Amino acid sequence: MMKGKILGIETSCDDTAAAVVAGGKTILSNVISSQVDIHTRFGGVVPEVASRSHLEVINAIIDEALLRAELDFSQLSGIAVSYGPGLVGSLLVGVSTAKALAFVRRLPLAAVNHLEGHIYANFLTGATIGFPFLCLVVSGGHTMLIWVTGHSQMEILGRTRDDAAGEVFDKVARALNLGYPGGPVIDRLSAKGNPASINFPRALLKGEENYDFSFSGLKTAVLNYIHERKAQQIELNLFDLAASFQAAVVDVLVQKTYMAALAKGARQVLLAGGVAANAELRRRMREVFVPKAIELIYPPPELCTDNAAMIASAGYYHLRAGKIAGWDLNAAPSPEL
Ligand code: KG4
Ligand code: ZN
Repeated sequence: MMKGKILGIETSCDDTAAAVVAGGKTILSNVISSQVDIHTRFGGVVPEVASRSHLEVINAIIDEALLRAELDFSQLSGIAVSYGPGLVGSLLVGVSTAKALAFVRRLPLAAVNHLEGHIYANFLTGATIGFPFLCLVVSGGHTMLIWVTGHSQMEILGRTRDDAAGEVFDKVARALNLGYPGGPVIDRLSAKGNPASINFPRALLKGEENYDFSFSGLKTAVLNYIHERKAQQIELNLFDLAASFQAAVVDVLVQKTYMAALAKGARQVLLAGGVAANAELRRRMREVFVPKAIELIYPPPELCTDNAAMIASAGYYHLRAGKIAGWDLNAAPSPEL
């Protein structure tokens, strides 16, 4: 089990992914089939379409992951699947497949919370991670500051009270007809813009130990700005707009993470989730933490966004601790972390 090879399966949203990871840390294969081309026409993920697409490709993706790892089922120590949060129809495809394979191949099954999986992407970076650490999870559906004291031992310090950070990136991009997902596009445009050109609100929700987030005010301010300009037929500078919006999100994420790191005496700060791929967020976090000798760890961009390697890594630690899921495992749209 120490160097156990785990097959990870991830189908919570619009990516069908399978990966094999050894010992929770070494990626042997990491295969992703994105449905972006299908959903981009609709400006977002269409749940019915997503689950059907997962079903069409999941078996081929798993075969490919084993092929690239040069392994067959008999050489695996277990199977890990993300069971939620996410779109229930999509999750169900991964969960049913993982259960069927584990049953037939007589392998132990690990049920991984998708958000916990995001945190474990950091274990695939080669960094030496020690408990406790602080983790900022910023994805399309979640924004959370988590104090992690051991494997699967987490204290949620703060979360968003309304929209998630990634969701706001996607909604602003959609209002600008920039396609889906919006985060990467805004990231690229921002590099050419002036972040100080428009002063968008930063909701810091005052209070010394308040680590909650709120992004709906910012979203409304940006959407109003866009609509007003359009109504007055004033041309938008997309670069400046993107950079100014992005700066407002990043400012809040950095400030709250910094406050929490100091309050907790964190020695390591980890970033996770799709928005952690953001170049400006990474740069600003480095700027804050490196001089303080607080180690900052983040996965490469392709491991920040949804993938199955992170699920396999988290699953390895579950199985090592004897946490084996039962055959009654079901997809859960919004389980507690
Ligand atoms: O973690 P993830 O792949 O899926 C969820 O679990 O939600 O996160 C997807 C989110 C999307 O909202 C996407 O726009 C955002 O992450 N994202 C980014 C970047 N890359 C992906 N946001 C900002 N900058 C990026 N470079
Ligand atoms: Zn995710």
